[in-house]
Amino acid sequence: MPQDPYVIDEMISAKTIAARVEALAGEISACFSDTDKLVVVGLLRGSFIFIADLVRELSLPVEVDFLEASSYGSMTESSREVRILKDLRGEIAGRDVLVVEDIVDTGYTLHHVRHLLSARKPRRLKVCALLDKPARREVDMSADWVGFDIPDEFVVGYGIDYAQNNRNLPYIGKVRFT
Ligand code: PRP
Ligand code: MN
Ligand code: MG
Repeated sequence: MPQDPYVIDEMISAKTIAARVEALAGEISACFSDTDKLVVVGLLRGSFIFIADLVRELSLPVEVDFLEASSYGSMTESSREVRILKDLRGEIAGRDVLVVEDIVDTGYTLHHVRHLLSARKPRRLKVCALLDKPARREVDMSADWVGFDIPDEFVVGYGIDYAQNNRNLPYIGKVRFT
């Protein structure tokens, strides 16, 4: 599909992200300080860079797993469905779990994932999202930790794509159509 030409303006620098990730990791490590092991679940694909940086800053024993969810917008915004394309490899019953997401937009993805995983009876289930766009929320959903609240702009980089492009940018950028 052809894309309109666009440029990317830096919104959050790599340095600013790194400092925030370190701070989040400190809070998460303190919260789970009594755990035997934390299962860190990344939501594919957008979280792959954030989870890689975050786990390296955690001072906890960690296990890493991944889940892939796809959210389908239908004719009406309110009847969105989230489908699981790749489930976790491991069991989470009775375990400490942290879900890691790149961005909360409408909230459908995380709402569904939290519901799905809590049904498996983890000991504790927390959610950390790097970015939050509260203005776009359609379903009641808030992450336990958020890196940055951002305005309703189309963002890319640090794992986040525009039509599968720009995930490898080291910073968060704002798409501007030219
Ligand atoms: C994006 C983003 C979040 C989700 C947020 O994922 O990475 O997972 O949408 O939107 P929501 O709050 O409205 O549900 P996407 O479906 O584009 O898949 P990707 O992570 O593979 O890019
Ligand atoms: Mn995603
Ligand atoms: Mg995407």
